Amino acid sequence: MKHLVVLTGAGMSADSGLATFRDAGGLWEGYDINEVASIDGWNRNPEKVLEFYNLRRKQASEAEPNEGHIALARIEESFNVSIITQNVDDLHERAGSKNVLHLHGELRKARSIKNSKLVYDIGSKPLKLGDTAEDGEQLRPDIVWFGEPVPMMEKAASIVEQADLFIVIGTSLVVYPAAGLVDYSQPGISKYIIDPATPELYTLQDWVHIKSTAAEGTPDLADQIIKDGID
Ligand code: APR
Repeated sequence: MKHLVVLTGAGMSADSGLATFRDAGGLWEGYDINEVASIDGWNRNPEKVLEFYNLRRKQASEAEPNEGHIALARIEESFNVSIITQNVDDLHERAGSKNVLHLHGELRKARSIKNSKLVYDIGSKPLKLGDTAEDGEQLRPDIVWFGEPVPMMEKAASIVEQADLFIVIGTSLVVYPAAGLVDYSQPGISKYIIDPATPELYTLQDWVHIKSTAAEGTPDLADQIIKDGID
């Protein structure tokens, strides 16, 4: 069965009411990345970091998947679909997508600050100082912070290499190594990018740029792929 691979970013969830990072009014306008999304910030003020992710976890739990998430789940009825997301919300899963790889972790998960293998699903619950894992160590958000390694990167790259059709939705493609995934797609396959703006691609030459929001552009592209198939 033909394999469709989708790379999504914050723009995918913008239509569900979740702020992106670098657009006007984005998250990084209100917060200092180094204070709330880095190990140094955690070591300096863990409560501030926990509060930042508690707010985002609450917002994500109150958001609903949009027509873009739903359209991607619909394509799974006809093709093998792998979603690689930079997003930490669970809107793809809640829309029905089955193969979702979270490059930057998940808001619903927490892990021991000492043993990254001790991971727990905390749903929409807030995390507090004193919440510990079974090893007695403080629980931290299971999120990849700036400057930390991206454990799923190798797996993600091998998935992109297998794509018969590649779609990028709602990412500025400025954060590495995730942005480098576009280089792993095979030459000659169909490649689409859905974004109201023109992201940081060294060339749009091999890409079809659908200048649209995820909620508007994804359903139409899904219909086209289901009707015409993947060559
Ligand atoms: N539909 C589709 N795309 C949209 C929409 C929308 N409604 N609104 C905005 N966009 C696009 C913007 O034009 C931009 O290209 O989504 C992209 C958002 O870019 P960023 O805010 O940089 O988000 P992202 O690319 O996901 O950031 C990557 O940076 O901060 C880290 O770990 C964080 O995973 C995140 C990573």
